[in-house]
Amino acid sequence: MFESLKPVGMDPILGLMAAFRADTRDNKIDLGVGVYQDDRGRTPVMASVKQAESRLMELEITKSYQGIAGDPEFNQRMLELLFGADHSILNSGRIKSIQAPGGSGALRVGAEVIQRARPDAEIWVGVPTWPNHVPLMSSAGLKIKEYPYYDLSSHEINFSGMMDALRQVPAGDIVLLHGCCHNPTGADLSRDQWDQIADLALERGFIPYIDTAYQGLGDGLDEDAYSLRMMAERLPELVVASSCSKNFGLYRERTGSITFIAESAEQVEVVASQAMAVARQTYSMPPAHGALLVSLILGDQELRAAWQTELDEVRHRIQSMRGLLAEGIQNNAAGQDFSHIVRQKGMFSFLGLKPEQLDALREDYGIYIVSSSRVNLAGINSSNIGYLCDSILAVLDK
Ligand SMILES: Cc1ncc(COP(=O)(O)O)c(C=O)c1O
Repeated sequence: MFESLKPVGMDPILGLMAAFRADTRDNKIDLGVGVYQDDRGRTPVMASVKQAESRLMELEITKSYQGIAGDPEFNQRMLELLFGADHSILNSGRIKSIQAPGGSGALRVGAEVIQRARPDAEIWVGVPTWPNHVPLMSSAGLKIKEYPYYDLSSHEINFSGMMDALRQVPAGDIVLLHGCCHNPTGADLSRDQWDQIADLALERGFIPYIDTAYQGLGDGLDEDAYSLRMMAERLPELVVASSCSKNFGLYRERTGSITFIAESAEQVEVVASQAMAVARQTYSMPPAHGALLVSLILGDQELRAAWQTELDEVRHRIQSMRGLLAEGIQNNAAGQDFSHIVRQKGMFSFLGLKPEQLDALREDYGIYIVSSSRVNLAGINSSNIGYLCDSILAVLDK
């Protein structure tokens, strides 16, 4: 039977990673893959996570199956982290969260539930968006529509174009939004813009689906949750996919959650039962390890404070690399403006370099950047910043 299959092309980022690994130059720089690196270019296990792991070694008494919805304590702690412990939605009975295998697993479970609820619904995604959004949504059977998000020439969100498109969204359709630290552009909506989108969702009757994979990496844990907290207050229905990959550094532990807000307590129970059916019919139960660590960290004052300090350091390091890169390449022969880099949030920005300039950076200087010219600012450090800026200036000069 397998003879009918055609090979699926490698994700371009994975191809770039493989080329980077094969490059033998000592001064090579990887700005491609979306993983945090510290100033020494490593992606370490956070110290708070290590501490939680050693506690878990002692506390854990079984590896027996856990429930389909995962660890109930994790689900509760995640709701408090996402929405704030005092948010009125948490006592409304209208909200329910289940653990999922990473942000990707959460996105897929959410998409499957939406598809079950509204088989004809279309999901509107921004252009550009995280490249995996479209396959994750469409493989659940959702039809994809697009709205413009970012203007490459001005380096700003095309908010008027976005709103014009969203005014055409029929009632009952879904609009996928990035909660913070937009991937790939780094351009985040302002609070006022989020408010306008919520107004429009109420007016038109569309349902926002917020993907929040970088809480704490933009402006801070509470600041980065503005969109979901405000929408949870104002809208009758909301879906939120969250990931602990970046803010807890738990990438390979596949830790995340999918949250549904429905119009009533009865409805949200039905929605959660459908989400658990989706889980049961795919992976059955989410992996336990990462979620147990997150529960331990969020449930312990000392560990939580240590984790927040580490997360603050991550955010500040990225912000300082943004500043150094923008400063280092702003005065270039081409007169190209890079000031947007400091205005943007999270791990990514678009540099706006041409394909031939990206090729030259890779071939002549060992600097690996994906073809959209999205850079992971966490790949920059105090040792490579000078070489990186000189190399970019050299290709801009050509
Ligand atoms: C916007 C966005 N959403 C979701 C994810 C999924 O994260 P994970 O499945 O690794 O938890 C990512 C990861 O890069 C992302 O950038």
